[in-house]
Amino acid sequence: MPKLMIVVGTTRPGRAGISVAEWFIDHARRHGEFDVEVVDLAELELPMLDEPNHPRLRQYTQQHTVDWSAQVDGADAFVFITPEYNHGYPAALKNAIDYLHWEWSDKPVGFVSYGGVAAGTRALLQLKQVVSVLKLVPVSEAVNLPFFSQFIDEDGVLQPNEEMEQSASAMLDELLRMETRWRRCAAAALTLGHDVSRAGGLCHGLRPGGHPARAQGGRAPGARSA
Ligand SMILES: Cc1cc2nc3c(=O)[nH]c(=O)nc-3n(C[C@H](O)[C@H](O)[C@H](O)COP(=O)(O)O)c2cc1C
Repeated sequence: MPKLMIVVGTTRPGRAGISVAEWFIDHARRHGEFDVEVVDLAELELPMLDEPNHPRLRQYTQQHTVDWSAQVDGADAFVFITPEYNHGYPAALKNAIDYLHWEWSDKPVGFVSYGGVAAGTRALLQLKQVVSVLKLVPVSEAVNLPFFSQFIDEDGVLQPNEEMEQSASAMLDELLRMETRWRRCAAAALTLGHDVSRAGGLCHGLRPGGHPARAQGGRAPGARSA
């Protein structure tokens, strides 16, 4: 079963987004097709990026980076849950992304955003631009919650409507489809004797190319239990 890492991008005291996160995490577990792992950035407590080397080199000097690298390396797909702050996304989320490089690449990512009238979509515009540089593969299916506080009851529990449930399922289905297609392509490439760490050409259009440097620092893409 592929591992889905859900990253909770809101960290501030009293954050309302935790209600959004709890609903989506529960939905993802009920979806049943992923081994769901949750990373709450408020609990992860990564300091502001404190590595001297570019993450492309994977020459990490801090234990928290080594741990974060191993965690992200072990995931097959991601969902980032994000509020919209001043039409952007939270600094904590950018910081967590910037710590790593190859660990993200070739993996599909979906987004849950929430906010006011724009439902956090302006934050997503920025976020998609950034994840694409890292060769994460954003899926177009998304969960965008406008005026999200209207869905949270007095106990802090989000009460979803049908559209929210459907959009969450559609995004998870698409993440699974992308993950499965890439996995099959990588397996086929291995069977044909190709170096899977360079199999980007073969699997073009499924996920942008893998890179040898990724294999040097850890697993090759094909090693993800294809
Ligand atoms: C610093 C800050 C900036 C905000 N900027 C926006 C914004 O640009 N668009 C929006 O829809 N809501 C904005 N809001 C309102 C948030 O949608 C709302 O506070 C939400 O609860 C934030 O998520 P959180 O509680 O999980 O941190 C902002 C809130 C904060 C604290």
